[in-house]
Amino acid sequence: MIKLNTKDLKAGMVTATPIYSKTGQLLFPAHTALTSQQIAYLEFYAIPSVLILPEDDVTKEILDGTSSDDMISYSQKIKKSREFHAFKVDYTKKTKIIKDSFNSLITSDKDYNPGILLSQISSLYDHHLTSLSVFDMLHNMRQIDDTTYAHCINVAIISRMMGKWLDFTDEELDALTLAGILHDIGKCMINQEILSKPSKLTEAEFGVVKKHPAMGVEIVDPYHPDDRIRSAILLHHERCDGSGYPYGKKRDEISEFARIIAIADVYDAMTASRCYRKGFCPFEVIATFEREGYEKYDAKYLLPFLTHIINTYMSNSVLLNDGTTGKIIFINKETLSRPIIQTASGEYVNLFKRPDLYIQAII
Ligand SMILES: [Fe+2]
Ligand SMILES: [Fe+2]
Repeated sequence: MIKLNTKDLKAGMVTATPIYSKTGQLLFPAHTALTSQQIAYLEFYAIPSVLILPEDDVTKEILDGTSSDDMISYSQKIKKSREFHAFKVDYTKKTKIIKDSFNSLITSDKDYNPGILLSQISSLYDHHLTSLSVFDMLHNMRQIDDTTYAHCINVAIISRMMGKWLDFTDEELDALTLAGILHDIGKCMINQEILSKPSKLTEAEFGVVKKHPAMGVEIVDPYHPDDRIRSAILLHHERCDGSGYPYGKKRDEISEFARIIAIADVYDAMTASRCYRKGFCPFEVIATFEREGYEKYDAKYLLPFLTHIINTYMSNSVLLNDGTTGKIIFINKETLSRPIIQTASGEYVNLFKRPDLYIQAII
């Protein structure tokens, strides 16, 4: 174990012991691979130092699965896989290239080339996202790297995938992917302290965050971007019911790319925010979308998106909140987050008819 001052922690370091706040509240369990947001959280709680596992021990300790948490063990299965390791190495390289490209855009460097940005995502997409669930890969990367750059990569990949499901042409797919990469470039102009603040933002701080779509457009405008890309940067926080920002536009006033990217953006943000809790369960995220998503997002894009995600978990083993385990055998079209489960003892449980039960974790 290595004792490190909280200010010297780096994303990806793994806790050796549980971390408690001064009032005794458990902040993170042992063997948490810390994200930069979690490190900010520790600073917020004024935790002076943390015991970290030496890098050589991480694979063994983490992969031994000493935790009894089922969701963590699912995540461990993914992180242990060869595919994920190859993906992680490549993803980390791409994050650096995207960071450099954003910097040249911001500093109006004449060398800026959108083709470079695009090729980073296309090659990640083409080389890695075949066997394991794309969503699992992206989510596990976000636990390691939760910077704006990683978020932009994820949104670009998810948007590209949505475009494929919608039978977009290659030209449209490339434009949508580029819009996904650039959608939050305006955040590079916002103070990192505000962006990674673990507690609720003040009204003034939220006012600053709300400026990032306009700031993004200001950065890209000198390069004469495609209209579809420009509007996606400006309008990706608008919502179909008029509840979004900066203008409060409604469905038909929001461009198609902005409506698609809004879904990819919120999905990635929701799965990332769940890192603080015991684990990411896609069913929980999908249930949230089903509860409140159809007014805010375009059903034309939301429904195929949720259906595709759910289908990737068909036949997976799951844990219900009453402790029952079973396999997903049928997806209910009316409520995607409540499929039919066949339990270990051979019984069928239709979650659509059992509001008392829900999927707590994939195991
Ligand atoms: Fe944004
Ligand atoms: Fe975003």
